[in-house]
Amino acid sequence: MAVKIGRNDPCWCGSGQKYKKCHEAFDEKLTLLEQKGHPVLEHRLYKTPAQIEKIKESCQINMAVLDYVGEHIKAGVTTQQIDDWVHEMTVRQGGIPAPLHFQGYPKSVCTSINEVVCHGIPSDQEVLKEGDIINVDVSTIYNGYFSDSSRMYCIGQVSPEKEALVRCVKECVEKGVAEVKPWTPIGNMGAAVHEHAMAGGYSVVRSIGGHGVGLEFHEDPWVSYTSERGSGVIMAPGMIFTIEPMVNMGSEDIWTDEKDGWTVRTSDGLPSAQWEVMVLVTETGCEVLCW
Ligand code: MF3
Ligand code: CO
Repeated sequence: MAVKIGRNDPCWCGSGQKYKKCHEAFDEKLTLLEQKGHPVLEHRLYKTPAQIEKIKESCQINMAVLDYVGEHIKAGVTTQQIDDWVHEMTVRQGGIPAPLHFQGYPKSVCTSINEVVCHGIPSDQEVLKEGDIINVDVSTIYNGYFSDSSRMYCIGQVSPEKEALVRCVKECVEKGVAEVKPWTPIGNMGAAVHEHAMAGGYSVVRSIGGHGVGLEFHEDPWVSYTSERGSGVIMAPGMIFTIEPMVNMGSEDIWTDEKDGWTVRTSDGLPSAQWEVMVLVTETGCEVLCW
């Protein structure tokens, strides 16, 4: 960081307050940690209170869409129908589905069933059946601000093995959230996720991670859920990122379908599950903005 700003100058965050009353102490703490060798984020990635308010509005829409999906999803529904619901419910609330046309992605939502790890593309050929587990990953743009969260749904009666996997991943996210505290490295969060998944006898996907979010769909940092304690960027107030581990019943190995360029599957064909929340680092801990 190269902070050259007078104590009586306006703060870099745009609050209009003097630097000494606003982010001076923040920068001092961060600089000390940086000098000890910890990576830190660029200033623009620490959200201001005004930005956080806007991001929260986007999150409200995202969660309402997922609530709607949860109320209607059942055996016999196609993943294309889920896509239609997500598009309709997002647009009706004044939002834009962030996945649509994102890097050429053709639909408004990702629907990942059983051995599909993530980025499953909705299709009218794909019908949900009793015993399936599905991740529905919804992302919204509202007034230019981004939100992103995903939930698992169990279709009818699922096997005890799948049910246990789905429960474990949810707990993994909770263990991760409990590690989100300012002035500590983000690697602590990923380590907590990984430890809980391994305790359940599962593996965690390494090559796909989470991300900062809010002003863009995907911002720094890239977030691992197999990280070491003490590693990674320092979490500081105003930082917003996703906790979205992909946990596999078998091996962590995955492959991407070349035919559609998106669908990621487990190599061993065993089920995978994922939950995703968005967290804001606060002065005292964290706030879950979107789930
Ligand atoms: N929602 C996914 C995430 O959690 C991103 C999907 S990219 C898409 O980061 F293009 F496939 F939508
Ligand atoms: Co995400």
